[in-house]
Amino acid sequence: MFEIMGEQIRVAIDGPAGSGKSTVARLLAERLGFLYIDTGALYRAATFGCIERGVDLSDAAALASAVAAMSVELRKGEPYLDGRNVKVEVRRPELTQQVRHLSSNPAVRRQVTGAARQAARGHSIVAEGRDAGTVIFPQAQVKTYLDADPQERVRRRHRELREKGDSVSFEEVLEAIRRRDASDMGRADDPLRVAEDAQVIDTTGLTIEQVVDSLEKLVKRKIGEGKQ
Ligand code: DC
Repeated sequence: MFEIMGEQIRVAIDGPAGSGKSTVARLLAERLGFLYIDTGALYRAATFGCIERGVDLSDAAALASAVAAMSVELRKGEPYLDGRNVKVEVRRPELTQQVRHLSSNPAVRRQVTGAARQAARGHSIVAEGRDAGTVIFPQAQVKTYLDADPQERVRRRHRELREKGDSVSFEEVLEAIRRRDASDMGRADDPLRVAEDAQVIDTTGLTIEQVVDSLEKLVKRKIGEGKQ
């Protein structure tokens, strides 16, 4: 049913940490019956693999060859490392601080891009990340960039961590978000940016439900246009 002229539909959602894109992408995929592609989880799985193997994270060549020797994939939306489901391991907070070593590595980026495309093959998808619309799926029919003001992003992340029982302070979360913004936006390869044909949605003050509703409308409008 959800096809444009027999083509699969690709929805790409990009944005900075704390913009709400993971929750939004997951819910939107569920509503539409599309496959959810969490590209960040692939970077996290590769990072976990390197840490587990004791690779020096500051050695770019060592990282590239270690990741080339791994199988990093998404199966039904969940990250797998060498055939093992690592969805729990990739959420460890200490890992989040280390991902930038991998996400700034061009060889690793090529491999993750390939893994995300492979996971999408044959499906209509909602893909989420930093370069889902600009690099991984440039042909996506719907592209959005979710943003929120930095204070709001820190508040959301702080609340989320607190709810998980983490006693982290607001200032620590602020510092972590600042560092991630700098690494996501400042890197030379595939930095976070707004795709030319992306719709920017400022989610500050909006509920998750409101954002998902407006994206659902956007997708359905596209599908409608494709049928004319
Ligand atoms: O969305 P996330 O927090 O799970 O992403 C983990 C890290 O991977 C984050 O530091 C940014 C990076 N990333 C990226 O560089 N490109 C993507 N398409 C997705 C994530």
